[in-house]
Amino acid sequence: MNATAAIATNPGGCNSSQIADDVLWSEPRNGVDECVYVSVLARRSATRYCALLGHAAAFGARYTGWKFLSLSTPALKTAHLPSSPLALGVLLMFLAASVQPAPGAEATRLVPFDIEAHRGGRALRPENTLPAFANALSMGVDTLELDMGITKDGVVIVSHERALNPNLARAPDGRYIDTGIPYIQLTLSQIKAYDVGQIRPGSAYAAQFPEQLAVPGTRIPTLSEVFALVRRSGDKHVRLNIETKINPTHPQESLDAEHFVAVVLDLLRREHFSNRVMIESFDWHTLLLVQRLAPKIATVYLTQQTGPDATVYAAKASAWTAGYDPSNYGGSVARAVRAAGGKLWSPDYRDIDARAIAEAHELGVAVIAWTVNDARDMGRLIDMGVDGIISDQPDVLRTVAAAKGIQVPPGASESRGRRGLRSVPSN
Ligand code: G3P
Ligand code: CA
Repeated sequence: MNATAAIATNPGGCNSSQIADDVLWSEPRNGVDECVYVSVLARRSATRYCALLGHAAAFGARYTGWKFLSLSTPALKTAHLPSSPLALGVLLMFLAASVQPAPGAEATRLVPFDIEAHRGGRALRPENTLPAFANALSMGVDTLELDMGITKDGVVIVSHERALNPNLARAPDGRYIDTGIPYIQLTLSQIKAYDVGQIRPGSAYAAQFPEQLAVPGTRIPTLSEVFALVRRSGDKHVRLNIETKINPTHPQESLDAEHFVAVVLDLLRREHFSNRVMIESFDWHTLLLVQRLAPKIATVYLTQQTGPDATVYAAKASAWTAGYDPSNYGGSVARAVRAAGGKLWSPDYRDIDARAIAEAHELGVAVIAWTVNDARDMGRLIDMGVDGIISDQPDVLRTVAAAKGIQVPPGASESRGRRGLRSVPSN
């Protein structure tokens, strides 16, 4: 389906499914630098989005599942623009209007600001569980961030580690496990026997999240169960940022990237969720596979530049970057991401500054920082122009973003009105 077809099937304007889709108005032969993206996140102004859709169709837009708006100056300069100055003027007027920042927001942001609940909002509910995702949906976030593993019987589950976590998993006898068994060695039914509804009391990990509400009896969810929760919630806008937990230095602890990606893409197609996800990974080989096999799915390049868990280095090669080492790009991580075909860079927030963000934006690469839990850090990063923040504290992030003039997504009770749900149940 292309945009022209979308308009043709509904010449009177947009319907909800069109608003849920995106348009790429572009010169495809020259790749992403030469594209203008119209974002589903512009849905916050549906009328304007309809107008954009119409103009894009009129100028021969190509339909895509891509999610974000890219209006960097280089993109506009090199795009295949309409030959008629009047037509071009009208299109640019609409495009410019669609990305006007809210008062106080950073003018150079590439995409509408993305509020992401890290692991569903780990500071508030048990991480990567249905209660956490339900809580995030209730308060209203743009994106649910989560981590994926694959079981011995080929099921995509949601968990940060590649194995059961002794700080989280309690066996049926009520005791926390001593050592983790990789999920790749366990079937889904074996994994479902463990309770992950409360961090091990007294542990250092528990001390990090003193306000997390325990939900005993909670099981590790499958990704399909998360999709079902999103459907039940009625939230038509929330996205999922789903991470492949593959460690190229410990390949035996998960499926290899080829099989991991194949299983995830197959599930997304069967569940019809391909247009609501971004696939993120520190393992860039994964992302290159996604870009080749499912080019409409957004990929997110995760990086960590410092400490023992670093995955990219300014001056040496890394097992994580599939050959796109910053050392080959003047030490610039953003340029390495761009060279790999990335349009979304997700760095450790402690690794970036205003200059790195500006450079990424010049390259047409949006920056979504992880994992930011302090309100002052959030405010500072928003002022520096990040395009989104991943936080264990989505409640705090909503407050800080709103104070900066950013429009925050409605929660379940706001979007459903008085007769609707006050909160999203997790089951
Ligand atoms: O998605 C960003 C962040 O989740 C990456 O770190 O270790 O929490 O998966 P981690
Ligand atoms: Ca993650």
